[in-house]
Amino acid sequence: MSWWWAGAIGAAKKKLDRKSGGAAAAPKFQSVGLVIGVTGIVGNSLAQILPLSDTPGGPWKVYGVSRRPRPAFLPSQPEGLPVEHIQCDVSDFEDTLAKLSPLADVTHIFYAARVNRSTEAENREVNSAMLRNVLTNVLPNAPNLRHICLQTGIKHYVGPFESIHGKVKAHESPFREALPRLDCPNFYYDLEDLLFEEVAKRKGTVTWSIHRPVTIFGFSPSSLVGTLCVYAAICQREGAPLRWPGSRVAWEGFSDASDADLIAEQQIWAAVDLHAKNEAFNCSNGDVFKWKHLWPLLARAFGVDWVGYQGEEARFKLEDAMKGREALWEEMVAEHGLAPTRLEDVGNWWFVDAVFGAEEMYLGSMNKSKEHGFLGFRNTVSSFDSWIDKMRVYKIVP
Ligand SMILES: NC(=O)c1ccc[n+]([C@@H]2O[C@H](COP(=O)([O-])OP(=O)(O)OC[C@H]3O[C@@H](n4cnc5c(N)ncnc54)[C@H](OP(=O)(O)O)[C@@H]3O)[C@@H](O)[C@H]2O)c1
Repeated sequence: MSWWWAGAIGAAKKKLDRKSGGAAAAPKFQSVGLVIGVTGIVGNSLAQILPLSDTPGGPWKVYGVSRRPRPAFLPSQPEGLPVEHIQCDVSDFEDTLAKLSPLADVTHIFYAARVNRSTEAENREVNSAMLRNVLTNVLPNAPNLRHICLQTGIKHYVGPFESIHGKVKAHESPFREALPRLDCPNFYYDLEDLLFEEVAKRKGTVTWSIHRPVTIFGFSPSSLVGTLCVYAAICQREGAPLRWPGSRVAWEGFSDASDADLIAEQQIWAAVDLHAKNEAFNCSNGDVFKWKHLWPLLARAFGVDWVGYQGEEARFKLEDAMKGREALWEEMVAEHGLAPTRLEDVGNWWFVDAVFGAEEMYLGSMNKSKEHGFLGFRNTVSSFDSWIDKMRVYKIVP
C-alpha cells in the first residue's frame, strides 16, 4: 500500500504500526527537518509524521520550534522518536541567531508558523521578519540544506480577510496555482518573495515548494474544528441548540477543507520528490462537502439539537454570542477534568465567523499537485469526525 493511501484510509493504523519498532531503532538519520511552528495545526502533524519509520526521506531527525513552551495538551511524541523542541521567538533576531544558527545538520525546513494581527500591514511586517530571521540565520550555517517548504494558503487567490468583500476582486474559483497575484498587499506574497530571494543566494543547491491549504481541519484547540467543538460543548451545557451563525452560501454551497496530516504529507512529498521542486501547490482534501451536512454530525457528537440557516436576519457572530462565557468555560474545565485552557485559547470565534460568513464558494484545484505525482487525499467527513474525536481524547472538550 502506498504511503499516501495508508494516510488517506487509516492514519491511525499507520501510526500504530510504527510503535512496534521502526524509527527508534534506526541508527542513522538520512534527513534532518526543522519545523518552524511545531505546536501549530500543521506543525503538530509534521512532528507526528516525520519521525515514523516509513516516512519518505527518513529516518528523520526533527527539530521543532515554537515561541511558547510546548503546551501540555498536545499529543506526546511517540516514545523514543527524535523530536527536539526548541523554544525560540523567531520574530526576535537575537533569539533566532542564538538558537537556530547552531543547527548545522538541518537538511529541510518546514515553515508553518504565523502570527495573526488585526491589519494586513502588521501581518506583513511581523510575518516577514519571522521568515527572514529563520532563513538568514539557518541557511548560511546549514551546508547540507536541500529544500524549504513554505506554508501559505488559499488567501493567495482571494486576498487577506480585510480585503475580502472589499475593493479587491478575488479570483474566480476553482483556484489554480498559475493564477497571477492579486493587486493588493498580502503577507503571503512577501513570504514567497523572501523565500525566492534567499534561495537564489544558494545558487541552485536549495530547492523550495509552497503549499496553499484551504481551511485546515486538525488538532489545535484554536482551529476551526476545535472552536466548533467548544461552541457545541457550551451549547450542550446551556441546553441550547447548535445554531448556524453564517451565510446561506457557506451553509448550502460547496466547501473544501485541508486535513492537517494531508498537508504534512504533501510537504514531505515535496521535500523529497524530484518532481515537486520549485513549485507552488494547492492542498485540499480532494473532495467537496456542504456545512449543512457536517453541522448535524457536530451536533450529534455533543448530543445537542441543531438549527441550520434560517435567513439573513437570523445570522449572528459567534464572537458576540460567546461573549461573557469565560467563567462558564472555567467551570466546565474543572468539572470535566479538561486540559487547563482559557476560553480565549480555545475559542477562535472571529476565524469561524470569517469562514462561515463566506458569500462566495472558494474551492482550490488539486490537479497540479496530482499531475506532479502527489496522490494523497482525505474523506472530509471522516476527517471532521476524527479531529472531533481527537479534541475529546486529549480532553480539550468534554
Ligand atoms: N489554520 C488554517 O485553517 C489555515 C488555513 C489556510 C492557510 N493557513 C496558513 O497556514 C500558515 C500557518 O498557519 P497555521 O494556522 O497552520 O498556524 P497555527 O496553527 O496558528 O500555528 C502557528 C505556529 O507558529 C508558531 N509561532 C508563532 N509566532 C512565533 C514566533 N514568533 N516564534 C516561533 N514560533 C512562532 C506558534 O507557536 P506559539 O503558539 O508558541 O507562538 C505555532 O506553533 C499561515 O500562513 C496561515 O495563514 C492556515
